[in-house]
Amino acid sequence: MAIYGNSTGTLTQASLLHPENLREIRQGLIGWPRRISSRYFYDDRGSELFREITELDEYYLTGCEFEILNSNARRIADHVLGRTEAGKAAGPTDARTISILEAGPGDGSKAQIIAREFASLSDSVSYGAIDISPEALSIALLKISEDPGLPTYSVVGDTLHSLRDLTNQSTGRRLFLFLGSNIGNYTYDGAVQLLTVIRRALEPGDFILIGFDLEKPAEVLIPAYSDSRGVTREFNLNLLRRMNRELGANFDISAFEHEAHYNAEAGAMQSFLVSQCQQRVTIEAMNLDLLFEQEEAIHTENSHKFTLHGIERMAAESGFAPVEHLSDLRKYFATSLWQVPVG
Ligand SMILES: C[S@@+](CC[C@H](N)C(=O)[O-])C[C@H]1O[C@@H](n2cnc3c(N)ncnc32)[C@H](O)[C@@H]1O
Repeated sequence: MAIYGNSTGTLTQASLLHPENLREIRQGLIGWPRRISSRYFYDDRGSELFREITELDEYYLTGCEFEILNSNARRIADHVLGRTEAGKAAGPTDARTISILEAGPGDGSKAQIIAREFASLSDSVSYGAIDISPEALSIALLKISEDPGLPTYSVVGDTLHSLRDLTNQSTGRRLFLFLGSNIGNYTYDGAVQLLTVIRRALEPGDFILIGFDLEKPAEVLIPAYSDSRGVTREFNLNLLRRMNRELGANFDISAFEHEAHYNAEAGAMQSFLVSQCQQRVTIEAMNLDLLFEQEEAIHTENSHKFTLHGIERMAAESGFAPVEHLSDLRKYFATSLWQVPVG
């Protein structure tokens, strides 16, 4: 069999060839309905395409969250620095030293807004991030180390499995960022599991700031995931290109099409790669042969939408205490500040 990428001894969780990823992708492709996790979108090209998506007019999510962070950075900092009632209740962590931590920073431009605010208020602030995309991490860290000039550190890996490698490097009071509706990619149970892991890696009195895309009419949602310029289409199809390159697969990219639907029962936008004809695909690194019927789909992404009630329930089930829900003027998006309860 041909060898793709490095020898398995040096494979990181970022590589499709990592044994756990190979197992998961294989199970997803032979299962019914076929599926691949959205976390495999983010090779270098995928991260670049995601940055293009955030600049699309139709992709309202990024603009909404920028609006929220720009308008509320000081308010968030006041909570974390112990200048509000919630902040005063903070436990053993020292609010004179602030560690801003982030999972899945993308290009780091949202963290930059928060980091600038803290840097203007405190002398001892650092920034650490975890991401499965080494390229996203290097862009984000460079941004924060240039402006506002914070010390930075990072971990390449999956948040669920490698989070402690990040939190172990942090000191003082922590503000953990999980922005951009990343949480919407998880099932409800998966989100509660991940948030519980994050809470346990933090200390009582630490904070988490999470982005939630709110429920809204399908005519607003659908163009955000199937834009007129075809960037979301390219982003989805890039997954097949990535498997061709990293796993020695032979997906014919022109024989698959991107589709995005709103599933009201699941409360989620869902993306698919749909086979345009009956075709065979071989994935050499898995020794796998697949037969696709015409119109057969691979489910590649869930983007769940939330209500404030649902957000509060998720906070409670993962052991956090909600502090404040911040929203944009149109009420399209909520960025929610929660705290690890003290005592
Ligand atoms: C949709 S982008 C969001 C970027 C940014 N937070 C924002 O608000 O624009 C998702 C980011 O999370 C990373 N990511 C996705 N799944 C991950 C996982 N399981 N563990 C660590 N990073 C992950 C991707 O590489 C990417 O940088």
